Amino acid sequence: MTVQQVKKILIIAGDGIGTEVTTEAVKILKKVCKLSNIEIELDYADLGGIAYDRWGTPFPTQTLEKAKASDAILLGAVGGLKWESLDYSVRPERGLLGIRKELDLFANLRPAKTFSVLASASSLKEHLVAGLDIMIIRELTSGIYFGQPRGVEVLPNGEQRGFNTDEYTTSQINRIAKVAFEVAMSRDKKLCSIDKANVLEVTELWRNLVIKEGENYKGVNLSHMYVDNAAMQLVRSPKQFDVIVTSNLFGDILSDIAAMLTGSLGMLPSASLGALRSDGKRYALYEPVHGSAPDIAGKGIANPIATILSVAMMFKYSFGNNKASKQIEDAVEKVLNKGFRTADIFTIENDANKKLSTKEMGEVILSEI
Ligand code: IPM
Ligand code: MG
Repeated sequence: MTVQQVKKILIIAGDGIGTEVTTEAVKILKKVCKLSNIEIELDYADLGGIAYDRWGTPFPTQTLEKAKASDAILLGAVGGLKWESLDYSVRPERGLLGIRKELDLFANLRPAKTFSVLASASSLKEHLVAGLDIMIIRELTSGIYFGQPRGVEVLPNGEQRGFNTDEYTTSQINRIAKVAFEVAMSRDKKLCSIDKANVLEVTELWRNLVIKEGENYKGVNLSHMYVDNAAMQLVRSPKQFDVIVTSNLFGDILSDIAAMLTGSLGMLPSASLGALRSDGKRYALYEPVHGSAPDIAGKGIANPIATILSVAMMFKYSFGNNKASKQIEDAVEKVLNKGFRTADIFTIENDANKKLSTKEMGEVILSEI
């Protein structure tokens, strides 16, 4: 008899719609684990605004400890108007950046895939986005988000000066490039590296090192694009892309654009993966690309699909179980094909009787599994 190792999964609901969407995703997680014979142990922790309110810090020590003890983390979202006037050091976003940094979750995978029945919900023409399937790989723990020095200082003339530093080292670029090439190998073998090498030295280094890494992946068709052009190309002709690799800030911006192509930010999952540790495991955090959406928080109308699809990514990347992952994706697709919609993906062509709340959407997907 094989002894099944219990998977420890940490649930961090966070702020705003975070609680609503993770509640539904956890139901799916439990059911799929049961069906796949994966034994799990759930734990819960605070991060972001709620953590600040409860513990005086957006990233409490016990959250870090629980995160380090986990095999995978499912996160809702952090942030909200309530905490916007706080000092930077204790803002909810600091919690998210802190956990990414502490666990060294440098590889952020953000797939943008259009479900065929939602192609008409995109703000772009249907033929431009139908069948779209892009994977954005965003470097997540370096670059301008973390570079030093940073701050706001007062100059002798009384003016204020704000500054941040965009920085990447050889090893930081090499490891994200490697992930990107590996992912490209498992897909259409087409990789576009996005930079601003005509202006920023740091991204010129990025480009040169990506080219060098490419010598180990001769089968991959590598191209380069400046970020301004890439933003334009993403809305002009998005299907030209397969895998995109880019820095922290550019990836933040481009992944929001890519998400919108698929109809709604409410549909896009993500995986943030750490380096392989000496025990053969890696830290991994799964979260929707959307934020905490304070404007609709507590109303029960948020779309839980991005978080549910993040659970699908967890099965694939943390548990190596592609079958379970596909089971979830198929269930989502079926539900959409049946015409069920949350408010964000509801259009006038849809059946008003099939406009669902967060909970109802969670339940119809659950019943398809
Ligand atoms: C994201 C978010 C975060 C980021 C914020 C909330 C700090 O926009 O995950 O894309 O900028 O990385
Ligand atoms: Mg973002």
